[in-house]
Amino acid sequence: MLVNNQPYRTVWLEGSTVRLIDQRLLPHRFEIVGMPRHEETARAIREMIVRGAPAIGAAGAFGLVQVVLEAPDGPGRDAYIDAGEALLRATRPTAQNLFYALDRVRRAFDGLPAAQQADAARAEAEALADDDVRQNEAIGRHGAALLRDGDTLLTHCNAGWLATVDWGTALAPVYVARRAGRRIHVLADETRPRCQGANLTAWELLQEGVTVDVLADNAAGLLMRRGEVNIVITGADRIAANGDAANKIGTYEKALLAREHGIPFYIAAPSTTFDLNCPDGDAIPIEERGADEVHYAWGWTDEGKMARVRIAAPGAGARNPAFDVTPAALITGIITEHGIIPPTRDAIARTIAKP
Ligand code: MRU
Repeated sequence: MLVNNQPYRTVWLEGSTVRLIDQRLLPHRFEIVGMPRHEETARAIREMIVRGAPAIGAAGAFGLVQVVLEAPDGPGRDAYIDAGEALLRATRPTAQNLFYALDRVRRAFDGLPAAQQADAARAEAEALADDDVRQNEAIGRHGAALLRDGDTLLTHCNAGWLATVDWGTALAPVYVARRAGRRIHVLADETRPRCQGANLTAWELLQEGVTVDVLADNAAGLLMRRGEVNIVITGADRIAANGDAANKIGTYEKALLAREHGIPFYIAAPSTTFDLNCPDGDAIPIEERGADEVHYAWGWTDEGKMARVRIAAPGAGARNPAFDVTPAALITGIITEHGIIPPTRDAIARTIAKP
């Protein structure tokens, strides 16, 4: 997608350095950062310099290439690779794409002579990133059929191109519809505590010329009741075999509201987000993050300095689950690269191949 009219991907590998858009600085500063070793790439995922399930997956894949490039020849090589992979695997627990990516790259070089491993890992990681772009573009084409000229779409968190290698999942249909000349207006939930909707979704839509209003997280009910929302599309971090879908905390509430008001609620996700080993949503691990994200807010002052301010009463505790699970029964359909499928065990088993 475009930044100042230049096309960018969110994450890529240059030599042995993983390059990333630093998403913590947006929308105030657009900066590309380099992670020269796998420990730095793992930190970038953990600290959410890169975030969004498919983008985390691609960063993890490139991180594992770094592990192989760094690994010593001879004794100790296998142990180094195992430890590096384990470090990447422990960064974010909910995004299924991370585990898919690490398994896929590992399978590509495991068992090869040491001298061939790095090339095999690199080729697979590059292919994974290219696949992500193609899959999301296909999601865009399928999802765009749901959007009419003049529609207002509500989304939660950021499932745009910044959350993937390119195109996005929930926002890909908006980009495809827009390029076909349809005007789609987006309502972006601000998405406390990290405000990916206010910071990232609004920024990337504006870069592409799509109009957007940021909503306080609790405004959706009123607007839905007034008939101001035509459709809801969100992304997913992991989808269980029965169609239950984990996504950013607050998604479940939006699905309940959409059901109450007769508004279609879609999840958009590539096949790499499905976890057929999770029988249902209760089996999906939910990341719990630190209390500071709830106690404080972050932003930029009018003088251009990043600042953190305390918003919670001193002495209060905090709960900070980062994701919730929307039951399949509340989901109208899942927009995948293979088409829009019902959120049922049968349809998922038919459409999504087990790795
Ligand atoms: O905690 P984050 O910012 O990584 O969470 C991101 C989301 O919940 C996205 O909606 C999800 O990963 C889908 S991204 C295409």
